Amino acid sequence: MTEDGIFVPFSAPGDVLEIDGEGKRGTIARVVELSPDRVTPPCAHFGVCGACQTQHIAHDAYRVWKRSLVLRALEAAGIAAEVAPLVDAHGEGRRRVTLALKNGVAGYHRRGSHEVMAATMCPILTPGLGGALAFAQALADEMPDKWLSLLVTATQSGMDADIKGPLHGNARLNARLAAIARDHGVARLTAEREPLALFRAPQIGMGAVATATLPPGAFLQATAKGEEVLAGLVLDGVKRARKVADLFCGIGPFAVRLAVRAQVYAADSDADAIASLRKTAALPGLKPVTAERRDLFRRPLARIELEPFDAVVFDPAFDGAAAQSVELARSGVPRIVAVSCNPQTFARDAATLIAGGYALTRVTPVDQFLYSPHVELVATFQRD
Ligand SMILES: C[S@@+](CC[C@H](N)C(=O)[O-])C[C@H]1O[C@@H](n2cnc3c(N)ncnc32)[C@H](O)[C@@H]1O
Repeated sequence: MTEDGIFVPFSAPGDVLEIDGEGKRGTIARVVELSPDRVTPPCAHFGVCGACQTQHIAHDAYRVWKRSLVLRALEAAGIAAEVAPLVDAHGEGRRRVTLALKNGVAGYHRRGSHEVMAATMCPILTPGLGGALAFAQALADEMPDKWLSLLVTATQSGMDADIKGPLHGNARLNARLAAIARDHGVARLTAEREPLALFRAPQIGMGAVATATLPPGAFLQATAKGEEVLAGLVLDGVKRARKVADLFCGIGPFAVRLAVRAQVYAADSDADAIASLRKTAALPGLKPVTAERRDLFRRPLARIELEPFDAVVFDPAFDGAAAQSVELARSGVPRIVAVSCNPQTFARDAATLIAGGYALTRVTPVDQFLYSPHVELVATFQRD
């Protein structure tokens, strides 16, 4: 990223470059001087593979750059806030990966291309996904004429895999795919969330509080450490609240941790995630959790519905929570904790809350997408 906010792939902070291009993206036309903050990328595929973008930047410079993505978004929205240092949440690595299968090759898309390159290594994955590339390749060998993607998640019971795309399976193919899954120690194989083979229920731990069976394809934070860090900041942010709403709750990694000490209302549009949370939250020892399937874009919790809560947590997907923020801004909820994977939509929603009278008291950037331009954050708002 240049000082004027132009994204230039494979540049590093401190490079002196001539740049080609228009708008917010450029390419390196000529190198005048390379930055001292360049390092040797740890992966042999870096530069060719379309996944990682910043393995060539030294650790400290990388951290400064990643935090700056949050600073820039807030600045662009005219929001002044204290931004804490970046929290490293890579932990043991990504527990979820999407691989492409095309023309009998499985791996990642080549940079800037629809072609798929076979990856022999991927150092950002958690050890539980050590067999994911070989499994994907075995599926690609079985279906050389198909163009599919494969979502693989490391769970406590082994890999959970969901095939996405037009499989047009028949009984013979399905049996072959199930046999390949078994041979690769896969716990469960689904296609577009429909079961193909179940050897063990894929279990996901939620800290020391609970274990959930993961619904096929349901949202999961990218690293186990990321979930732990985000949940820790959420718990810290709601303080001593006794009644908390967890909006965009997914399978409930925040809700169940919150339920150790507070009554929780949780909502999400994914029916399977809500069903999973209802089961998980039935554990003895937790305070009551009410989970509702609800589209919070079309039907955000209205101001009047928000009144009973001492704190509201919201963790929307990339598009943010514009409609819900409008209702929150009109509410009297004393504390709000926002979790976001998109600093731009967060800044937009934060501006709505601030215009409604909330003070933004803390922003913590969290890095669970190592080597990518994605950054999470947790922010706390307070109404005096
Ligand atoms: C970033 S995830 C967060 C999930 C959860 N907080 C977690 O940490 O695992 C965003 C969630 O928003 C949900 N979602 C997406 N669009 C929605 C909508 N219109 N209304 C309600 N939930 C929605 C998704 O199903 C997903 O579970």
